[in-house]
Amino acid sequence: MSPRLLPRFSFLERVVHWVVGVTFVVLLLTGLAFSYPSLFWLTMFVGGGPAARVLHPQVGALFGVGLLVMFLLWVKDMFLDALDKQWLGAVKHYAMHERDKVPPAGKYNAGQKMFFWLQSLLGVLFVVTGLLLWFPEYFGAGLLNTARLLHYVGALGGALLLIVHVYLGTVAYPGTARSMIDGKVTEAWARHHHPRWSGDRADG
Ligand code: HEM
Repeated sequence: MSPRLLPRFSFLERVVHWVVGVTFVVLLLTGLAFSYPSLFWLTMFVGGGPAARVLHPQVGALFGVGLLVMFLLWVKDMFLDALDKQWLGAVKHYAMHERDKVPPAGKYNAGQKMFFWLQSLLGVLFVVTGLLLWFPEYFGAGLLNTARLLHYVGALGGALLLIVHVYLGTVAYPGTARSMIDGKVTEAWARHHHPRWSGDRADG
């Protein structure tokens, strides 16, 4: 018998998430290529150095728009409630898979909510500093240097967060990735990971 499935993400949510995901990876690769001469070869994936130089800010603009739409779609579910704060206090038990010691999560656990807020803040940082660097003729050298440093440090932070995010969404918790592919999860997955959300959402 096939498992009962629950709808988790709409088509629009998935498209927007993947626009953000793919553009972010392209931005990381082209940005890394500019930052480290030994990684310049990465630009060959987008047609060489000059093409990467033109593409990076344009893809960045698409990333910014995608992130804004994603923020507007999801922000209502991302505020921490009392149980989320307890969840943060019990995060070491979550990491050790001691589920009986972890307060039940709603649609998103507190870690996912923190990830959402951190990536949203980083998104603002990337867009603001990126715009300064895109139109350098309007700004002073000191401001541009600060923008360059913040853009770079933010990208390293975003890359580390992304590695953790992809690991948790794929290898660490089987059954999660499909929520961003066909938009559905099994009822068993929902009861295990998001008991306060699973409720009576089954659509057979
Ligand atoms: C590129 C590879 C990526 C993969 C494989 C991936 C995978 C996933 C999956 C499977 C989910 C659903 C989790 C669930 O059902 O609970 C998800 C949710 C989410 N993704 Fe991604 N994602 C990627 C990139 C990104 C990027 C670049 C961002 C933002 C900059 C992002 C932001 C989010 C947010 C905010 C959520 C909802 C909260 C959460 O589940 O953490 N994702 N992602």
